[in-house]
Amino acid sequence: MIGARSRALAGFALRFGGQPTLLAHAPGRVNLIGEHTDYNDGFVLPMALEQTAWVAARPRDDRVVRLLAQDLDSEGEFDIDDVVGGPGTGLPQTGSSAGPQPGPTWLEYPKGVAWSLTAAGHPLRGFDGVLASDVPRGAGLSSSAAVELAVAAAFLGPGPTGAGWDKRAIAEAMRRVENDWVGVSSGIMDQLIGVVAVPGHAVLIDCRSLDLTPVRLPGGASVVVLDTGTRRGLVDSAYNERRAACERVAAAYGVRALRDLTLADLAAAGPAVDTVDLRRATHVIAENDRTVAAAGALERGDVVTMGRLMSASHASLRDLFEVSSPALDALVEVAAAVPGCFGARMTGAGFGGCAVALVDGGNVNGFLEAAAAGYRESTGNVANAYVSAAGPGAGSAAL
Ligand code: GLA
Repeated sequence: MIGARSRALAGFALRFGGQPTLLAHAPGRVNLIGEHTDYNDGFVLPMALEQTAWVAARPRDDRVVRLLAQDLDSEGEFDIDDVVGGPGTGLPQTGSSAGPQPGPTWLEYPKGVAWSLTAAGHPLRGFDGVLASDVPRGAGLSSSAAVELAVAAAFLGPGPTGAGWDKRAIAEAMRRVENDWVGVSSGIMDQLIGVVAVPGHAVLIDCRSLDLTPVRLPGGASVVVLDTGTRRGLVDSAYNERRAACERVAAAYGVRALRDLTLADLAAAGPAVDTVDLRRATHVIAENDRTVAAAGALERGDVVTMGRLMSASHASLRDLFEVSSPALDALVEVAAAVPGCFGARMTGAGFGGCAVALVDGGNVNGFLEAAAAGYRESTGNVANAYVSAAGPGAGSAAL
């Protein structure tokens, strides 16, 4: 299949005629470690993937956005003036013959982007555009943040990879799309790494201060994303429920976020906390420590320690935070057992989707073959694999 960049460009000429004047892009991401920590003011260590969402666009003289989602063969349209009133104003219409026709569900992301950028003070023009993405949907690789940021980059206009952007402000504005428009209480990780990514590096993000520490990936190791091929519905409600559990524990201890607690605090006689909530909090607090340690290990090129921390993270997500799945557990188990695999874990929100493995760069093909065969044997399912260098953050270029 031709790449998403080419699909967006070719799709534009076919749908709108003539040439686009702007090509915007934003990456998917894989989180190496630090899961379900971002909304607890904790630490994460993601990197941008080479898989990218692209928007080929041509500004219009009015405030109408016409967008073709090439991969879905679905087109939508809205007027920016109809969405700037905030969440609810641009939500799917009832489709009554008196009012506007319902828009496709995916169009809520671009609408939310228009609302949020406007609220952040950006004057926007409409555009005709074609969206295509190589980021697998619903796989825990931030396909929706990639779409949000690529659409934002199309609105904000040309600039070499985000030059002139207030990157943290853009990430915050895109998080608001998820939180307030779409209704998922996600943290800042996906949108932030999507703008601040550094090629060849993972980035240690302090999700409280938003301090960023790029960490070079060691030369001899490869990051492999392994897709279980499974997707689960109701992820959003389970996600929001996990977040609520974390907030209950922080509130019981009278702290702003779980970031402010240690494992010793939890072990000491403290406030009465539900035992399940306590398990959730134990994961988050230990995961923060693992993530800071992992950044240090990567920095030193200590892939063995990094791999051990990844595997410990998976066990904790499986047993304490309970966001893994049988398919993820099976894939992580077979991957970790392949010689030359330093460590493996589920990545992203969980319940299905992808695992990430750190693998000896000298034997990636052997690893891929062995992991795929093992997964097929233990589950009967086929795993997709992506080997990706750490790519750049979102941006847009004049064509
Ligand atoms: C999703 C959310 C992120 C983060 C992860 C779990 O990807 O969008 O903010 O919470 O889950 O680490």
